[in-house]
Amino acid sequence: MEIETANCKTKVSECIDNVDLERLSVDRPLKLDVEITGLDKLIEELHKVFSHSHVNIQDVQKLMLGYKSDPKDWRKYAKYDRFRYTRNLVDEGNGAFNIMILCWGPGHASAIHDHADSHCFMKLLSGSLEEVRYDWPDNVQPEVIKKMKRKAKRCCLESEDLEKSDAKYTNGDTGNCQIDGDDFDEFRENYDIKSMKEVGRTRMEIDDVCYINDALGLHRMENPSHVDGAVSLHLYCPPFKSCRVFDAHTGKPTEVKVTFWSMYGKKIKRVLEASDMVDGQQ
Ligand code: SIN
Repeated sequence: MEIETANCKTKVSECIDNVDLERLSVDRPLKLDVEITGLDKLIEELHKVFSHSHVNIQDVQKLMLGYKSDPKDWRKYAKYDRFRYTRNLVDEGNGAFNIMILCWGPGHASAIHDHADSHCFMKLLSGSLEEVRYDWPDNVQPEVIKKMKRKAKRCCLESEDLEKSDAKYTNGDTGNCQIDGDDFDEFRENYDIKSMKEVGRTRMEIDDVCYINDALGLHRMENPSHVDGAVSLHLYCPPFKSCRVFDAHTGKPTEVKVTFWSMYGKKIKRVLEASDMVDGQQ
């Protein structure tokens, strides 16, 4: 599956090699030329879009904006928990994506997280949510950046005496070569208290749509209300089973599983593990 922005017609991970990261963001507001009647219709249209080998990010956003939230469409999926936000599977897509409804009780929040090299589209269906964005911490790199660095390192090593370069590398001297993310992590085990930098805050109101991928940074969501719940619709392409959450104070990443509270409107029996959610209530 390739997914494109208005500026870039190849896989996001590939186009990072050629364009400025800034250029991957999408201009708002989008011109709306679709009206989608009902959640089922939205899902049907999304299936059509994701049946192609190329997917345009703005087309997905337009479809999501074209649907106006109606609780009667999604109430059956909206299952809350008292303690933490819930993830409720609505549709498994065609394997290339999945769709879920997240229910946020008053004050519930997700932890700062990445998107496991996936694309995340989100629409607010009820209440309000605050999206807080962060830069990647200096000592952790997204897969897309690692790929760039590996490519740069390969180019660099081609023009050097490999043996000499390896010896230098073991001593921690990287010369003019860029080193990839894994090696970089080894060199920077001491996490920096200043490493999680908040770069933006957006209040989402009903029917707003937002988009993020790892190239654009990290985020967390928060229900700012002390009394009302909030409900959001999320589409991930491709679906993922785990991602990384980041300690807000140190930037230290931890891999966590992501699970569902219910599937197709039915609550699933499960043993709750401490680490199984992208959850801010730690
Ligand atoms: C979020 O974007 O904060 C929700 C993360 C999730 O899918 O659990």
